[in-house]
Amino acid sequence: METGLRNRVAIVAASSKGIGRATAFALAAEGAHLALCARNADMLEDAAKQIRAGYGVQVLTEPFDVSDDARVRHFVDAVHRHFGRIDICVTNAGGPPSKTFAETTMEEWDRAYALNLRSIVSFAHAVLPYMRQQHWGRLITITSIAAKQPVLELVLSNAVRAGVLGLVRSLATQYGPDNITVNNVGPGFTATERVKELAQANALTTGHSAAEYEAGVTKDIPLHRMGRPEEIADAIAWLASDRAAYVTGQTILVDGGVYRGL
Ligand SMILES: NC(=O)c1ccc[n+]([C@@H]2O[C@H](COP(=O)([O-])OP(=O)(O)OC[C@H]3O[C@@H](n4cnc5c(N)ncnc54)[C@H](OP(=O)(O)O)[C@@H]3O)[C@@H](O)[C@H]2O)c1
Repeated sequence: METGLRNRVAIVAASSKGIGRATAFALAAEGAHLALCARNADMLEDAAKQIRAGYGVQVLTEPFDVSDDARVRHFVDAVHRHFGRIDICVTNAGGPPSKTFAETTMEEWDRAYALNLRSIVSFAHAVLPYMRQQHWGRLITITSIAAKQPVLELVLSNAVRAGVLGLVRSLATQYGPDNITVNNVGPGFTATERVKELAQANALTTGHSAAEYEAGVTKDIPLHRMGRPEEIADAIAWLASDRAAYVTGQTILVDGGVYRGL
């Protein structure tokens, strides 16, 4: 299937590990040039090096925290100066801590908002004017199944991610006439470092081992296994491609069937 991604320029945020990293690899495999960020410079450069060696595409990297609005805008402008265009922007960040409502602090609410909603606003503010000039663009947010079906003890994620869906829907309507599509991908349980974090948090409250946690999670997944980061990345690459030109304002769940709604 021809994706039309060759020589497109894609920003993939929070992409040194997990789903972001797999997304960078998936886009590079289709010939897109990349701009990547994450906080740890060494891990980021390691991912970039492997992508350059594997696919021969250009990869720009900058280490920073995506909740820092000024750094996001500086990065996006630097990417545009370097490549002369920005076609695709995939927003991503680490997830908020696993907490019940009573355990959360106001600082954690502020941090969850800054990390998982405001950082998307920063990227959208910075990239959409460039995409509008080109009359072509793909903005894709990575959130969570929690945005559609709240997950017990992920109250910070449940609340803040839902705001992203409202933002995505609003931007899809406003920027459709500029030939820019805006969509959201909601991963279900996916085998990454993030799941290890959740298993550790669960062990503290229940005493269950990581294996017991995984067994508990997968028994409720119709496909009876966790997802692989590459499986989330494939959906993102499709949304970024020419093949998804008429899809906008949507949330695509890649969750092994966990979402029970219609
Ligand atoms: N895995 C799952 O089961 C699952 C399910 C639903 C939703 N999600 C969500 O999907 C997103 C990605 O998860 P993942 O599983 O891929 O996690 P992961 O394997 O832990 O990777 C997270 C990536 O984000 C970067 N990052 C974290 N905080 C950042 C920040 N403040 N600024 C810049 N980069 C940052 C990390 O690098 P640095 O640490 O170096 O910054 C790393 O590259 C998260 O929001 C997560 O909550 C995951």
